[in-house]
Amino acid sequence: MAKKYYITTPIYYPSGNWHIGHCYTTVICDALARYHKQKGEEVFFLTGTDEHGQKVEKEALKRGITPREFIDPLVSELKEMWKLLDVGYDRFIRTTDEDHVRGVQQIYEKLYRSGDIYKSEYEGYYCTPCEAFWTEAQLKEGKCPDCGRDVALQKEESYFFRLSKYAPRILKLYEDNPAFLQPKSRVNEMVNNFLKAGLSDLSVSRTSVKWGVPLPFDQKHTAYVWIDALSNYITALGYGSENDGLYRKFWPADLHLVGKEIVRFHAIIWPAILMALGEPVPQQIYGHGWLLIGGEKLSKSKENARPELTDPYELVKRYGADAVRYYLLREIPFGSDGEYTTERFLLRVNADLANDYGNLVSRTQAMIVQSFGKIPPRGKEEGPDGELIALASSLFERVDADMGALNAPDALAHIFEVIGRANKYIDETTPWLLAKDPAKRDRLGAVLYNLAEVVRIVSLALRPFLTRAPQKALSAFGGGEEVLSPAFGALEEGTPIEKLAPLFPRLDVKKELAEVEKLVAALQKKAAPPAPAKPAEAPKPQISFEEFQKLELKVGEVVACEKVKKSEKLLHETVKLGDKTISVVSGIAKFYTPEEMVGKKVVVVTNLAPAKLCGVLSEGMILCAEDGAGRLSLVSPERAVECGATVR
Ligand code: MSP
Repeated sequence: MAKKYYITTPIYYPSGNWHIGHCYTTVICDALARYHKQKGEEVFFLTGTDEHGQKVEKEALKRGITPREFIDPLVSELKEMWKLLDVGYDRFIRTTDEDHVRGVQQIYEKLYRSGDIYKSEYEGYYCTPCEAFWTEAQLKEGKCPDCGRDVALQKEESYFFRLSKYAPRILKLYEDNPAFLQPKSRVNEMVNNFLKAGLSDLSVSRTSVKWGVPLPFDQKHTAYVWIDALSNYITALGYGSENDGLYRKFWPADLHLVGKEIVRFHAIIWPAILMALGEPVPQQIYGHGWLLIGGEKLSKSKENARPELTDPYELVKRYGADAVRYYLLREIPFGSDGEYTTERFLLRVNADLANDYGNLVSRTQAMIVQSFGKIPPRGKEEGPDGELIALASSLFERVDADMGALNAPDALAHIFEVIGRANKYIDETTPWLLAKDPAKRDRLGAVLYNLAEVVRIVSLALRPFLTRAPQKALSAFGGGEEVLSPAFGALEEGTPIEKLAPLFPRLDVKKELAEVEKLVAALQKKAAPPAPAKPAEAPKPQISFEEFQKLELKVGEVVACEKVKKSEKLLHETVKLGDKTISVVSGIAKFYTPEEMVGKKVVVVTNLAPAKLCGVLSEGMILCAEDGAGRLSLVSPERAVECGATVR
C-alpha cells in the first residue's frame, strides 16, 4: 500500500492585499506535496480560508455589506493567487463550508458532553487582529504581546475549555516526541513562555460576535475563531461525519506547516483539543520564519508590503511562477527569517535559473540537436565523466534527506551543485571543439549523453519546486517512461530530442532595479514632506463652565476605518458609542493607518453639527494632541472604560 502523506497550510484570513510573505507557507507545502507525490505516496494537501470572527464582522459592518459579501471576492483573489503560483491543493476548505460548520459543532458537542467545556464568565483583553485573548499580566505595555496593537477589555458569559488539565500531557508530548514541534527553539518558547507557568482554561465561545459557528448546545454563543479554524484540519477529512473515509485514511497529519507567530495555537491548544476528543495528535508542527522588509515582518498592517515590490500577481506577471517559487524556496534559510529585497530576488533568479539551469538545458539540447538530432550512444567514461555521473546519480539521495527534514533550500542547493558541476564539465570537455574533429565524434557523443542525463535528472529533481521549466525540459526528451527514471543511464540512445526556446529570459538586473526604484521614488514623492514646526498658539479667551458644559464628549471605540477616497489626509471611522455607532471623518491619515485605528478607544466630541467632508458624513470629532512638529496623537482614556462613557 502506498505511504500516505497529509500536509496542511494554515487557513488564511481573508484580508486581501496579499503579499509575497503570504505565499511562503503555501509554496513550501506545495513543493513538499509534489515531492511526496513524485515519490509515489498518496498525498492530501489542504489549504483554505479562516472566515469567521470579529475582524471580518467589523470590516463588513464598516462597508455596510454582509460578511459573506465582504469575504467572497477576497477568497476568489486568494484562489487566483494559488492558481498563478501553481499551488495544487487537494481541498480548499472555507470555514463557512457547511460540512466544516457541522464538524465544528460536533467537536463542541463532544467536548461539552465529556465535561471538557463548561460555562463561566470571561474577563480579559482581546486583540482583534490576532483574534487572541490575553490576561493583563501577559500584555506588553498594555498592548498585545504578539503584534503590539491595542487590546480591548472584554467581559462576557463564555464557555471555557479545560486547557489547564492538558498542560502536563503537552509537556510530556514534547519530551517523548521531539519531532512533534520543530525547530527545537519553538519548544523552548512554548515551555518558557506558556507551559512552565501552567495554562489557564481557554474561553472558547463569544456572545458578542455573531459571525461564527453557533454552539449546538447554546445558540447565543458562537465558537471562538481559533477553535473553529484549527478544527479545519480534521473537518476537511470528514471527521465526525458519516463520510469520514479520508479522516480514517489520512489522520494524523504528517505536517502542519505554520508561521512562527501561530505556533502557540497549533502546539498547545490544538493537541489539547485532540487529546480531549481522544484523537491522535499530528506527527509534526513546524514553525517557519518570516520574510522581512527592513528587519520587520512583511505585513499588510505594517504597510511595508508595497504592492510595487511585493505583490505576488505583479511578480508572477513580470518574472513567472517558477521565479517566485524558486526565490521563496531557496533564499530563506528554513526555520529562520529572511530579508526580502527586490535585488536579492532578481539576482537569485537571474544567476540560478537563467544563467545556470536555463543555460545548461539550452546549450545541451542545442548541441545534441545540431550534432546528432537525437540522443547519442552513452560511450565510455573518461576524464571528468566519473565525478559528474557520481554526483548526479546520488542526487536523489541527498534531496530525499533534505526534504525529509523539510529543507527545500538545501535540497535546491544540492540540485544546483550538480547543475554547476555540469556547466564546469562543459568547459572542461569543450564539446564545441570536439564537434569540429570527426575523429572525436564518439567522445562528443559520450559527453553530450552525460549532459543530457544530467539535464534530465536535475529537471526531474526540480519538478516539485518549479512547475513550468523542468517539465518543458523533460518533455523535450521524447516523453518515454525512461524520462522519469531516477537512474543515470536510463535515457535510451536514439531518443528524439527537440530544441527548446530559452527557459528563462536573462534579466538586466540593473535595468529592472532602476525601474523598481522609479516606482518607489514616485511613491515617496506622493508622501507629504514633514510639516514645519508651528509657531506657539496665542492663548484662547476664557470660557465659563456653562460654555464648557455645552460640549458632549464621549469615549468611543473605532470599530471600522478606511481611507477617504480622493483625500490623502482623511480617514473615515465608524465609532461605537454604547449602543449606537456614528460616522466620523478625521484628518489623521498621515499619522495612523486604518488598520491601526480599528480597536482604538478614542475621545469624541459627539454634539458637533454634522458636516460632509469629501462627500463623507462626519457626525463628530475625534480628539488628538498635536506636537510641535504638527504630528497628531490620539487622546485615549488611561484605563479601560466602556464605550459611550462620558468625558467631563
Ligand atoms: N488564520 C490564521 C491561521 C489559522 S490556521 C488554523 C492565520 N492566517 S494568516 O492569513 O494571518 O496567515 C497565513 C500564513 O501566512 C501564516 O503561516 C503566516 O505565518 C504566513 N505569513 C504571513 N506573513 C508572512 C511573512 N511576512 N513571512 C512568512 N510568512 C508569513 O494566521
